[in-house]
Amino acid sequence: MPKVLISGRGGSGKSTVVSLLAQRLKRNGNKILVVDSDESNLCLNKILGINKSKDTLMGNLGGKKLIRDKLMEVVQKGESNLNIFDEMSLDNLSEEYVSWNDNLGFLEIGKIEHSMEGCACPMGALARDFFNHIKVNKDEWILIDTEAGIEHFGRGLIEGVDFIVTIVDPSEDAILLANKAFDLSLEDNKTFGLILNKVDRASEKIIKNKLNPNISIIGTIDYSPDIAMLNLKGDSIDSILVNGLNDVINYIN
Ligand SMILES: Nc1ncnc2c1ncn2[C@@H]1O[C@H](COP(=O)(O)OP(=O)(O)OP(=O)(O)O)[C@@H](O)[C@H]1O
Ligand SMILES: [Mg+2]
Repeated sequence: MPKVLISGRGGSGKSTVVSLLAQRLKRNGNKILVVDSDESNLCLNKILGINKSKDTLMGNLGGKKLIRDKLMEVVQKGESNLNIFDEMSLDNLSEEYVSWNDNLGFLEIGKIEHSMEGCACPMGALARDFFNHIKVNKDEWILIDTEAGIEHFGRGLIEGVDFIVTIVDPSEDAILLANKAFDLSLEDNKTFGLILNKVDRASEKIIKNKLNPNISIIGTIDYSPDIAMLNLKGDSIDSILVNGLNDVINYIN
C-alpha cells in the first residue's frame, strides 16, 4: 500500500488535506501513519485530533547533533543516505515517538528547538532514511506532511515514496510550484496527482487553465469557513466531511 507525500506552497492546505485523508482512511478501516516532516509548524496533531508522543523521532535517536554528526560522516564518504534504520513495519515502531489513536498513528521527524541550532538537513536526511526503510502492508498507508515549497524534492525525501500529491490553492505561486513539482516527480519516476483546495468554480477554472495539462487533478475541495474556524480554534477537523475523498484514495491506490 502507498506511502504518499503531500507537497505545496505555504498555506495551501497540506496539513488539512493530510488530516482529511487520514480520517477518511481510518473510517474505511485502514491503518495509517501520519508523518509530520515539517520542522517548523507545530499543530498537525491538533488538526488531526491526536495527542503527540513523548518524543520526536530525532529526539528519540539522540537529538539533532548526533544525527548531524552521522550525516557528516556519510557525506565525507561521498554518500548521501544515513542508513541508520533496518527494514521496519508500522507494528514495530516505538510508542516513544509514535502516538496511536486506534489505527491512526502520528510521528514527528524533528522540530527546530533553539535559535542558532543550524540548518534542517539532519531532519531531511533522517526522514529520507525512515521512508526508505519503512514497509507498508495491505490496508496500511503512510501520509507525509511536508514543509512549504519543494525543498523535500532536493533533499531526496521522495526516494522511498510511492505517490506525490501537490495541493494548489488559488494563487499564482501554488500553480507555478505545482507545475514544478510535477516535473520533479517525473524526473524521479514518481506518480503524481494534484488536489485543488480552497477553490470555488471561478478560481477552479482559472487554475485549470494555468496548470500543465498533463497533470492529473485527483480531487477538489471547496473553501470551507468551518475548516478555517476549526483551525483558528486549534480544534480537529475530524467532523468535517468532504465529498470526493474516496475517489482520491482509489486513484492513489
Ligand atoms: N478547504 C479549506 N477551506 C478553508 N480554509 C482552509 C481549507 N484548507 C485549509 N484551510 C485553512 O488554510 C490555512 C492553512 O492550511 P494548512 O495549515 O493545512 O496549510 P499548509 O499548506 O499545511 O500550511 P504550511 O505551509 O504552513 O504548512 C489554515 O488556516 C486552514 O484551516
Ligand atoms: Mg502544514
